[in-house]
Amino acid sequence: MLQREKYISMSLEYDLFWVRIMKEHAIFIESSIPPIHEQLAKQADEFKQQYDRLFADTIRIANGAIPKEALQSGQYYTRFTEAAEHAVQQLTGIEVNRNLTMMEYNIEPLNPGSVFDAQKEQEVSLLNEYILNLTSSFARFKSELLNNQISCRLFTFLYSADLDHILREALKYIEVLNALQARNDTVDSNYRQFWNTNMSDHAKSMRGLFDPTETDYFNIANQFVGLYDALMQSSASGMQNAEDLNDAKQISEFKAKTTQGLIECKVRAIMSPLYTDHLLREANHYIYLLQT
Ligand SMILES: [Fe+2]
Ligand SMILES: [Fe+2]
Repeated sequence: MLQREKYISMSLEYDLFWVRIMKEHAIFIESSIPPIHEQLAKQADEFKQQYDRLFADTIRIANGAIPKEALQSGQYYTRFTEAAEHAVQQLTGIEVNRNLTMMEYNIEPLNPGSVFDAQKEQEVSLLNEYILNLTSSFARFKSELLNNQISCRLFTFLYSADLDHILREALKYIEVLNALQARNDTVDSNYRQFWNTNMSDHAKSMRGLFDPTETDYFNIANQFVGLYDALMQSSASGMQNAEDLNDAKQISEFKAKTTQGLIECKVRAIMSPLYTDHLLREANHYIYLLQT
């Protein structure tokens, strides 16, 4: 049974990470829809706006409620996020609210020993419920896109594997929220396995999105694919925290380097820097989990 303090800080730790992730999935979808499906792009934009509203609430409620280490872990924003958001807005015309990123810089950390009242718990519980609702309909939306694409009724500029990936992320977040709302101590026993699989997916997607002339980047991404494929075959059972942590740190560095290269226009790819910064934050979230 999760006590109030733990329920509040854990909820906000997860929400601050995941709500941004969901909002960015909406941006990636919107920017990948061909003109004939304008309506779907609009729907994606509406999801983005709804997540932005909940994101603003989350940032406000998280003030003073999240440990310093979580805030500094690079899972919520990185040194690239603001520039990456700016680039996406300039290059796609899709509005990306950078004020929210700047608001995140000012979140005060949790004071150890802080006591929260029942009203704060109620506020967090309500926030979780709103996010659960929205994420359930967003998961349905993603699932329809995926089904239509694999049956060739729809074409997008996202790999089907990527649509499947972002659908699985939404479903995982729903699982996490349900566990939190049930005040379960362990949010999810498969969470680590889930992120190992994700790191493998990221390496595969990146490998396929670099320009064919970027041989070095392609080769490094391909090495990560090999590494994670081997890891997933071997780590189905045992605890290998140290090894997982080391691999996650390496892929995090590669994602950071790629993001910087994209922002500085020194790497050619059909990925936006916000996409790779997103993957970077997901790696940092995983690293944070392995370290806590
Ligand atoms: Fe994601
Ligand atoms: Fe991901």
